[in-house]
Amino acid sequence: MYSSKISGVGHYVPERVVTNDDLSKIIDTNDAWITERTGIKERRFADLEAGETPSVMGTKAAELALKRANISKHDIDFIIFATLSPDYYFPGPGVMVQDQLGIGEIGALDVRNQCSGFVYGLSVADQFIKTGMYKNILLIGAELHSGGLDMTSRGRGVSVIFGDGAGAVVISRAENGEEGILSTHMHSEGKYAKELALLSPNTSHWVPEIMQKNDPEDLSYYPYMNGNFVFKHAVVRFSEVIEEALQTNNCSVSDIDLLIPHQANLRISQFIQKKMGMRDDQVFNNIMKYGNTTAASIPIAMSEAWEEGRLQPGKLICLAAFGSGFTWASALLRWH
Ligand code: COA
Repeated sequence: MYSSKISGVGHYVPERVVTNDDLSKIIDTNDAWITERTGIKERRFADLEAGETPSVMGTKAAELALKRANISKHDIDFIIFATLSPDYYFPGPGVMVQDQLGIGEIGALDVRNQCSGFVYGLSVADQFIKTGMYKNILLIGAELHSGGLDMTSRGRGVSVIFGDGAGAVVISRAENGEEGILSTHMHSEGKYAKELALLSPNTSHWVPEIMQKNDPEDLSYYPYMNGNFVFKHAVVRFSEVIEEALQTNNCSVSDIDLLIPHQANLRISQFIQKKMGMRDDQVFNNIMKYGNTTAASIPIAMSEAWEEGRLQPGKLICLAAFGSGFTWASALLRWH
């Protein structure tokens, strides 16, 4: 059995910055409300005319991760792409990365686990490397939310939260006794599927029917979120799954050098930090700049943490996520 490690991290965010004040010009909201409830000050919106799709942003993040991993794109054995906002309904964006990178005919897998998608993808990659099947896997999380949000006052409870961007990591076989990924943990509770969901179009409410009805009251093609309900479940599940990772490895909260939570909401992050008795320097937050970028949020945060020198050899890093499904997941890793 082999071990795996993260050998490179990268991210790409669109240039266009959209502040809370910018949003307040088109919908009935304001900077004070958004800042107080979510901590978000601004987010990035992709430029569709310039071709900034999830796969394109993901490829750019991947190129940086490959450079930092110091390996050639031709050494990648497999691609995993986590997103809830793929370029197309099908095929998924993994194959587009294979094409855009211009690499061989390797496998490309798409992961549909929303905010937990990156950690789920990490777990899948870890298993492939542990068994010896693959040596280097490219894992991408990328989202383009801006094109699908209800940018009217009606959608303000959801639309102010989400942003666009991409992050990527290269996961490689660990050498010489390096520890790398220590464990991963995944959970789901499908009875709450509709509490945070985008329901249409779907196989029983298909595009011709939607067009025929042309019903202005049909909001099923915008994301729905039961905000309070999600918040209450998130704070419980985040701390549970972090504890699970710690217990599995006989570690305690004080051993964590950096917790990189999915950037759902600054208040959720602060709640978990307080509940678990963690110091400010143990928790990484960058939601202020990017909003919630779903599957992209953890790899974007990891890439920024790496740039800030906070991912140093020997550090114990915990990743944790919660989101639509509901799904939640964590990973504990020793940086190398
Ligand atoms: N700007 C201004 N006012 C807004 C608003 C906005 N963008 N969105 C909602 N409001 C208003 C509501 O209409 C409501 O007004 P009312 O009291 O007159 O009816 C009031 O603010 C409170 O709305 P509510 O939805 O109860 O707010 P909240 O305190 O629950 O905060 C969230 C809303 C979404 C910020 C909060 O529920 C949350 O953070 N949930 C978790 C979301 C999350 O993390 N999702 C991602 C999980 S991966």
